[in-house]
Amino acid sequence: MARSCCGDVDLVTAEGEPIPRHRRTVALCRCGLSTIKPFCDGTHKAAGFRTDD
Ligand code: FES
Repeated sequence: MARSCCGDVDLVTAEGEPIPRHRRTVALCRCGLSTIKPFCDGTHKAAGFRTDD
C-alpha cells in the first residue's frame, strides 16, 4: 500500500534535487517495486504487498 500525501509539499531526492509532482495528491511507494519511484504505480497489488497501517 502506498502512502498518500497532499498539499504544499516539496519532494526531493536524497541529494536534495527536486522531484517534479504532476498532481496535488501523490501516492508514495512503500513496497519498493514501483517502476516510477518514488511514486506508487499499483505494482504492490499484484505483488501482494500489505501493511498493518
Ligand atoms: S506501494 Fe504501490 S507500487 Fe509500491
